[in-house]
Amino acid sequence: MSDDSLIAVKPEIAARALVNAEQYAAMSRAAVEDPEAFWRGQLGRLAWMREPTRMKNTSFEGDVSIRWFEDGMLNLTVSCLDRHLARDGDRTAIIWEGDDPNSQAHVTYRQLHERVCRLGNVLRDLGVKKGDRVCIYLPMIVEAAVAMLACARIGAVHSIVFGGFSPDSLATRVEDCGATVLITADEGRRGGRRVPLKKNADVALESCPGVRHVIVARATGGTVAMQEGRDLWWDEACDKASAECQPEPMGAEDPLFILYTSGSTGKPKGVLHTTAGYLMWASYTHELVFDYRPGEIYWCTADVGWVTGHTYIVYGPLANGATTLMFEGIPNYPDTSRFWQVIDKHKVNIFYTAPTAIRSLMREGEGPVKKTSRASLRVLGSVGEPINPEAWLWYYRVVGDERCPIVDTWWQTETGGILISPLPGAVAQKPGSATLPLPGVQPALVDGEGNLLEGATEGNLVILDSWPGQMRTVFGDHERFVQTYFSTFPGKYFTGDGARRDADGYYWITGRVDDVLNVSGHRMGTAEIESALVAHPKVAEAAVVGMPHDIKGQGIYAYVTLIAEEEPTEALRKELVAWVRKEIGPIASPDAIQWAPGLPKTRSGKIMRRILRKIAANEIDSLGDTSTLADPAVVEELVANRV
Ligand code: WTA
Repeated sequence: MSDDSLIAVKPEIAARALVNAEQYAAMSRAAVEDPEAFWRGQLGRLAWMREPTRMKNTSFEGDVSIRWFEDGMLNLTVSCLDRHLARDGDRTAIIWEGDDPNSQAHVTYRQLHERVCRLGNVLRDLGVKKGDRVCIYLPMIVEAAVAMLACARIGAVHSIVFGGFSPDSLATRVEDCGATVLITADEGRRGGRRVPLKKNADVALESCPGVRHVIVARATGGTVAMQEGRDLWWDEACDKASAECQPEPMGAEDPLFILYTSGSTGKPKGVLHTTAGYLMWASYTHELVFDYRPGEIYWCTADVGWVTGHTYIVYGPLANGATTLMFEGIPNYPDTSRFWQVIDKHKVNIFYTAPTAIRSLMREGEGPVKKTSRASLRVLGSVGEPINPEAWLWYYRVVGDERCPIVDTWWQTETGGILISPLPGAVAQKPGSATLPLPGVQPALVDGEGNLLEGATEGNLVILDSWPGQMRTVFGDHERFVQTYFSTFPGKYFTGDGARRDADGYYWITGRVDDVLNVSGHRMGTAEIESALVAHPKVAEAAVVGMPHDIKGQGIYAYVTLIAEEEPTEALRKELVAWVRKEIGPIASPDAIQWAPGLPKTRSGKIMRRILRKIAANEIDSLGDTSTLADPAVVEELVANRV
């Protein structure tokens, strides 16, 4: 890629940025040359009960051990809440904007602190102790942040399950982490519709005998069944609880949360993050990447059910004393101007969203954007999937009026926070490129054999050394952690992504190189969807691949082989789509189902996904070598009946 696409840092932005180009270069050097000194210099970001003396103790070799700030003691909620009270207690911590444009709330740091303390006491009274797991299945209401922080207050480990997941998906996650308490709500609201969360939870809990208590927040006031002895109303319990709750002293490496994420094989993995390193990374990246200044209004449109919501709605902003906006709704309700209206209504300075949202709003033209002012905006962010240059430029020109730098932030559930992104005052942007690593991050590209590639090239994206926000293990399965991330290229963290590096050293993420799909920024394993499909009594076999999709980035394309006596019908196709929605959740709905009398397999029985991906993408001229297939005729049949 030539330099024609470079959008230089504007001098006025560089002049007042927290980090300019020289500082960025100096920090990048310092963080790699002497990580001990660099991170010691960042300790003031957190409120410690005991400051650590050792910063980094990590190894990507052998059993893989990652420890940061290991002899430090702290409680994360003191950093996020208590220490702001003296000076900024009356500052708004959370602006809540409801699905209904007429509903909103402002919660100050003092109020948030009190609510967290009350719920912390409720949890303690229910017998929840340090290290116990609590599952959270909530819509985008303030209670979601309160629940996370209340767990952290008493040292419990939270595991949030996205409110769009089905009862089955919830049950698997509750069981895997061994939660004893579930926090949910009567219902959620989205785009004018209601999501029956408590009802789903009740179904899920039929197969989760370990859950002893369910705390139910009133979000809509809808009627729900309450099980005597197990279920309690959030408001009633909190009203009775004390507003003082001593923060549990935690070791730096004590677990903070588990978040399940999809991989190329098997069940979703419980990604485990610990206390100090994670919060350090959340605070550091939130401040640097968004060039955050106290008093600014910051809005990340993600859901707290995903890692982006954890790090950039709750933990990063609150650690930095920011005002964070939490949005219950969706971009096109009541109409497609909603995002921009919310920006004007709350005078949002920093806006962070996903390419899929940008692409879907771009389709509506400039009208819905241009009828709003957006004058408060200063920095725009993108996350979750590669952003195509066309969408980038629309975001830049139409939404940001060419005033606001765009930070295209590459990271993963596993990385805890952003690793590759421009800093607004330091790094020139190129539409479609996540640009350069943050200080302290050492990305590299390797070929299939793990050889390091130099200069402008393309390869597998790895990270050479640890950073504080890195996941520590897969909950309950350290071996799987080592296997998944450190065995493909021994001694290096493998991201699962492919990337190109241009002559300026800029990274261009090309997408997953494994069997993980990225549908509207939601990460999904093809294996999960396949096993949902074959669980249907009429399905004999299924193979799922991604296909290009204008709005979602990737769509889900499923090849389905029915059992012998079944006929493929339109009704059955619909039934299968509904089945997958029920099994996993609406985000996993197949976009296309093709009936496949046979699947292309090697003689050893391995499905050749490469060919299935090509057919789904309608790239049938480049199917490649099919001679190693057990039955090459299968391919012709599939090509002829492509949907
Ligand atoms: C993809 C979301 C290109 C990538 C924070 C990664 C991106 C996966 C970007 C992680 C980006 C995320 N450019 N691709 N800016 N951000 N990805 O765990 O494939 O839900 O591996 O974390 O999303 O998804 P996850």
